[in-house]
Formats: sequence, C-alpha cells, structure tokens
Amino acid sequence: MSATVSLQQLTDQLEHLEAEAAAAIANASDAAALEELRVGLLGKKGRLSGVLGAMGRLPGDERPLVGQRANRLKDQVQQLLGARLEAVRGAAMAERLERERIDVTAACSYVPPGHRHPLQSTIEEIVDIFAGLGYRVSEGPEIETDHYNFTALNIPEHHPARDMQDTFYLGGDRLLRTHTSPVQIRHLEANPPPVRVIAPGRVYRRDAVDATHSPVFHQVEVLALDEGLDFSHLRGTVTTFLQQFFGDLPVRFRASYFPFTEPSAEVDVQWRGRWLEVMGCGMVDSAVLEGLGLDPERWSGFAAGLGVERFCMVRHGIDDIRRLFSSDLRFLEQF
Ligand code: DAH
Repeated sequence: MSATVSLQQLTDQLEHLEAEAAAAIANASDAAALEELRVGLLGKKGRLSGVLGAMGRLPGDERPLVGQRANRLKDQVQQLLGARLEAVRGAAMAERLERERIDVTAACSYVPPGHRHPLQSTIEEIVDIFAGLGYRVSEGPEIETDHYNFTALNIPEHHPARDMQDTFYLGGDRLLRTHTSPVQIRHLEANPPPVRVIAPGRVYRRDAVDATHSPVFHQVEVLALDEGLDFSHLRGTVTTFLQQFFGDLPVRFRASYFPFTEPSAEVDVQWRGRWLEVMGCGMVDSAVLEGLGLDPERWSGFAAGLGVERFCMVRHGIDDIRRLFSSDLRFLEQF
C-alpha cells in the first residue's frame, strides 16, 4: 500500500470513477443490472468507499475537499441510476405492451357451443325454398279466436275438428290455434291480393303424447292468391318445393277434403321406397274468399299446410317426435 496519496490523485480518481459510472449506467439494460451497478459503485464495499478509504491519508485540511467531491459524485450517480431505471422500466413496459398486444379484429377459431335446433333449421330451409319462389313470411298469433281458427275457414259449427278432444279452449271464444291456416285469413284481411305468403309457427292440439303426436308442434302454411291461378300452379309449386326439400323423388297428389279448399288434395312423396303423406293442399274455397269480401270470379289461389316435425323426422330418420322436444344434447348434437 503506498504511503502517500495526493489530493490531485484522489480528485482524478473520483473524476474517472464518475465518467466510468455514467457510461456503465447508460449501458445497463434492466433494473437488475442497475442494482448491481449501484452496489458496486456506492455500496459499503463499492468503488466510492475504496477511494474514500484513502482519504484518511490526506492532510486534514484537504479531506473536506475530497469529501465534497465524493458527495457530488454520489448525488450524480444516484440521479443517473434513477433516471436510467425509469427509462428501462418504460422500455420494458412498452415492449410488453407490444408483445402482449391483442388484436380484437383478428379472425378467430372460436367454436360456438351450440347450433340451431333441427326443427328451426327445417323451418328455415322450408322458408328459404319458398322465398326463392317469391313468397314472403307472414305470422299470426298462437292464441286465436274461434272465428279465425274455424269459422272464417269454413269449418262449420259441429265439425269434428272443433271437438273438445282436439282443441285447447281458453275461455270466451279464445283458443290455442290448432293449425296455421288462420294466418291465411289474417293476412288477406290486412293485404289485398295478389299475395304469396308462407306462415310458419307453433300449433296446439289435445293429442295424447306418443311417438308421432305432441300437443305442441309446428306447421308451415302456404297461400297464393291472384288472378288466374289454377290447380296446375298448385301442383307445380308444391312439387317444386318437395323436390327441392327431399331431393328429386316421385310426388303424387290424392284427392282429399278440407273445408277451406275445393278441390283438396293430400300429397305423398316416395321416400326410400314407400309413399309418405307429407302435406295437405287445395284451391282456396270460394266460401273463404266471400267471407273476406273477395270476388271468387276474379281471385283464385291455392293453400297448403305441412307439419314441420314430419319433414324433420323424415329427413333425418328420427323415429320418435318426443326426441325433438326433449332438449337432450346427446340427441341434438347430432344435427
Ligand atoms: N290446416 C290443415 C291442418 O292442420 C292443413 C292444411 C290442409 C292446410 C290443406 C292448408 C290446406 O292450407 O290447403 O291439418
């Protein structure tokens, strides 16, 4: 250890140390490196302590000069460390924000946990086909009056369809509609012909529940009224619709009876080798038109009605209607 040390030497050392510290601090890239520098420079066993240790060997009157210089260095280094720490923290935050950026507009691979119920997609498919033929959707209430559900459709007072066995009566003349046909009447009251509409919706009957009957089910009603429509238009429309829905398979019309159509027919499709009855239809009865104040000499048209459950079950090979109402996901997830 050298015996003597001069004021100049110590001052130079401090000067040098300050320059070195400033360069090292400027180069430190994170908080840990800065802490290491702080300990190495200002800590108990740090570089500054080393220089100050030699101070004791100076003449007493020179020591305060070195002490003051050392204090300035300490202040300066602390200030540089603080400023640099702030800078590296800011940079780290900016880098993290960039790295963890979430692009909320990016295309994603989200798999929806659910999908349409098979009855709903059947209704939508039917609606789509008729939309392609120029039809629009009309809707009516599920709570109907005796007038719209029966009388206006030419269903007489003592017709079996009015039987307590079949209809949910609500008191007064109100009831739960037993078919979507009342929408024909409501639509024509509100819209003068020509009209081309389909009316999907829920209907209700007091049926015992079994594999093919449910007290609530769905129908789609079809109505076209215009000048010059005849049975060939009915046949063409219904056949086109059925062949679009089921594929290009044989369709046959059988004479039938409905109070609100004349003539009336039931329609079958040949599905997997056997004839299946899929809908009722006919030319709108003149009694229905007269009830609406429409001249049957001028206006003619056709109506049709189908059961959505039937279409859905045939299409998907479902053998029990109750499955469609059970909300059992193990069943529904198959569609
Ligand atoms: N409303 C009838 C029913 O529920 C179905 C029906 C048959 C509707 C013939 C029609 C039709 O529009 O022309 O059972």
